[in-house]
Amino acid sequence: MADRSALITGVTGQDGSYLAELLVGLGYRVTGIVRRLSSPNLTNISSVLSDVQLVDGDLMDQSSISQAVKVSQPDEVYNLAAQSFVATSFAQPVLTGEITGLGTLRLLEAVRANAPTARVYQASSSEMFGHVLTEPQDEQTPFHPRSPYGVAKVYSYWASVNYREAYSMYVANGILFNHESPRRGLEFVTRKITDGVAQIVAGKTKTLRLGNLDARRDWGYAPDYADLMHRTLAAPTPDDYVGATGESHSVREFVEVAFHLAGIDDWEKHVIIDPQYNRPSEVFNLRGNANKAKRTLGWEAKTRFADLVRIMVEADLQRYGIASR
Ligand code: NAP
Ligand code: GDD
Repeated sequence: MADRSALITGVTGQDGSYLAELLVGLGYRVTGIVRRLSSPNLTNISSVLSDVQLVDGDLMDQSSISQAVKVSQPDEVYNLAAQSFVATSFAQPVLTGEITGLGTLRLLEAVRANAPTARVYQASSSEMFGHVLTEPQDEQTPFHPRSPYGVAKVYSYWASVNYREAYSMYVANGILFNHESPRRGLEFVTRKITDGVAQIVAGKTKTLRLGNLDARRDWGYAPDYADLMHRTLAAPTPDDYVGATGESHSVREFVEVAFHLAGIDDWEKHVIIDPQYNRPSEVFNLRGNANKAKRTLGWEAKTRFADLVRIMVEADLQRYGIASR
């Protein structure tokens, strides 16, 4: 795949960093859009910093996005930038709509004007299914978002389909279920748990405060999903694909396994249920059917639940200088 070029929004985030590593390894010329922060946040992409061209841009700002597309002249564009934390979307709904919803439209317009033959990947989400009535969810399942984040993602999903239909652009949606890693932000429940467990083992705290332990998610491993993103744009025609493991587990199960792996079996003594982490409207249960991605793209989630929890617990224990149990 030498001589191909890719533009990634959200390159500093969990998925953007794994995707940048994958594409650099495949010989792509990779450009990443980064927004100006008072303290730069390049830790996730430290391994590929010398191989990735960083350009200033913000999904809130049309001119910087257009300029980034113009100068990078990408063959592939991956729109991974978002205000991606569901809980924050209730506190900052307008900002979330601007970035996670309208931001996609700004990028699509930038591509239409400056690189209309580029293939575009839109990071859509299982959060769009929200209040689900059927299980497992696939590409035909109706959307019923339950958060401002989910609503904004539905907007972006349909904007992407519309640009495909209206302008014959190559735009594809990856409807990805939750995927996690040691690079996951500390506010998301999996990482909050594995970091909390490691802090307890390290003697830094005794407790971990959580919300709804009954929520169920289809949790996969982020590098597997970066591979799916790349395969999605390699298909001859643009289409929309669910990415999922097909298994769902509760937050409670995640907690049990994580504490157990760290050598603590009486996890109930450490976990405090704190209603401040409940959401105004909750997504109770998500489980995906990724048969279409398997059939068409040859993709399957390789890392299963127990291995995912182990990878994350070990990484956080190591961060606090503790050898794996
Ligand atoms: P993440 O770690 O939160 O990364 C989000 C990225 O977006 C960061 O690089 C962030 O930059 C950037 N960003 C935020 N606001 C921006 C703005 N206004 N302009 C430009 N960049 C901005 O998210 P992730 O887990 O990697 O997820 C990647 C994408 O997939 C997101 O769109 C997310 O909604 C979607 N998604 C994720 C999952 C999942 O389970 N991880 C599942 C389905 C869909 P800073 O470093 O400056 O903050
Ligand atoms: N964050 C968090 N913190 N969630 C908690 C907590 C807590 O203390 N306690 C229970 N939960 C529950 C939430 O109520 C939710 O049902 C579930 O754990 C997962 O929450 P998150 O890890 O914050 O992820 P999410 O499912 O809301 O959203 C993630 O996955 C989406 C795909 O379905 C994000 O990555 C989104 O960007 C992504 O689109």
